[in-house]
Amino acid sequence: MNHSTLYPFALFLHVVGVMALVAFYGMEWATLLRLRRSPEPRHVTEALASLGAGRGLIPLGSTLLFVPGAYLAWVGKVEKTPWVAVGLLAMIVLGFLGGSVTGKRVQAIMASEGRALATHLPALWNSLVVRASVLIAAIFVMCAKPGIAGSVTAAAIAFGGGLLIARTTSPRPAEAAVSGDTA
Ligand code: HEM
Repeated sequence: MNHSTLYPFALFLHVVGVMALVAFYGMEWATLLRLRRSPEPRHVTEALASLGAGRGLIPLGSTLLFVPGAYLAWVGKVEKTPWVAVGLLAMIVLGFLGGSVTGKRVQAIMASEGRALATHLPALWNSLVVRASVLIAAIFVMCAKPGIAGSVTAAAIAFGGGLLIARTTSPRPAEAAVSGDTA
């Protein structure tokens, strides 16, 4: 099979990878909203366990993004263009925040049987908002394919804007503390 046949399939798989991440972020968002409203420990572990059941979407989405993405970049000879670098950087940021912030905090909440929610909820919320902003910026640069200035600006707006939105929408201590967390 030649590249002109494989290329559209690779692009299709790459976009399915984006869909998998968007689907999981939607589930994560719904879960965090639920935890903000209903932070009793038994609801917390139940909600996080349901979210965990969909966790397979992350390795699936990341693999579909990266492997076909690398192929697209190689065949299209665009590996040196700045927007591909933003795509790679976005994947690193998503992986770092998802694993080192969200993954570890969820483990800590589960280990406390839901009682440590108030301690970790703001970080969970901030991680999701920044990841969603970075994902949107990556979709933007992949579609608009800007030069170096546009790529750097998009990445900076996404990260800075994400932090700002996270800061202004993060659960207040009083809201999170309804769970009775004293950790
Ligand atoms: C979170 C990260 C990423 C997201 C959200 C993303 C999203 C997208 C989307 C939506 C498209 C379709 C745009 C279009 O057809 O005009 C696309 C195209 C593309 N992506 Fe990505 N991507 C990401 C990471 C990567 C990575 C890491 C690479 C390379 C290693 C890559 C390489 C490409 C290439 C070369 C195209 C252009 C295909 C074409 O227009 O012919 N992407 N990406």
